[in-house]
Amino acid sequence: MTAVLEVDDLSVRHGGVLALDRVALSVHGGEIVGLIGPNGAGKTTLIDTLSGFVAPATGTVRLQGDDITRTSPHHRSRRGLARTFQSLELFDDLDVYDNLLVAASDASRVGATLDLLGLAPEAHRLPAELSNGHRHRVAFGRALVGSPQVVLLDEPAAGLDPTETAELATLLAHLRDDGLGLLLVDHDMSLVLEVCDRVEVLDVGRVIASGAPETIRADPAVLDAYLGRQR
Ligand SMILES: Nc1ncnc2c1ncn2[C@@H]1O[C@H](COP(=O)(O)OP(=O)(O)O)[C@@H](O)[C@H]1O
Ligand SMILES: [Mg+2]
Repeated sequence: MTAVLEVDDLSVRHGGVLALDRVALSVHGGEIVGLIGPNGAGKTTLIDTLSGFVAPATGTVRLQGDDITRTSPHHRSRRGLARTFQSLELFDDLDVYDNLLVAASDASRVGATLDLLGLAPEAHRLPAELSNGHRHRVAFGRALVGSPQVVLLDEPAAGLDPTETAELATLLAHLRDDGLGLLLVDHDMSLVLEVCDRVEVLDVGRVIASGAPETIRADPAVLDAYLGRQR
């Protein structure tokens, strides 16, 4: 089966820093791939590169088998690749409905996306009037409203309380079961290990481990590089 998103030999330089060093990974439809690693590991740089905001020094990015390495963010989003931002990037002067509408290629998708996310009652509120959990859902809705094939999530659980995080986990599993491919970057290790089918571990720009959550949990290199430094 062709991966919906396939990355090979991807390197990115930020000035003198090698932020990504020959990274390879893939995401299939109906799969949640976790991406973890310490601060500065290159997780956001990878999402920025996959979504077309950063140009790589080497490597290829394929979407449904097509080379999109040098295409614009807009082209990628039209082709089915969506992302969220760590900073949410909502339009503060637009209500929830319009925040989704401006991201939609088809206005008829907005209502269904609001329903899916439980946001219909908030449709005519401004982001500032929402709980943190609901603001996160609006950001996710902006990614989902274009009917993507794959969504890249940059720390969607940051700042969520345990109830909101559990709701996010349920939503991610539902979307995965519906056939969506998801790349989940998050610091919440228990969320990542719970919902992901596979996990990739980045450290200083390199993939140092990849495998099933049970394998990753016990991998000595991961414990040393990531969990060890957190303690
Ligand atoms: N715009 C940038 N300019 C220069 N260096 C950057 C920039 N963005 C990230 N970096 C550097 O690249 C490395 C990876 O950062 P980042 O992708 O933000 O990591 P993560 O999201 O895993 O915390 C870090 O060393 C960071 O300081
Ligand atoms: Mg980051």
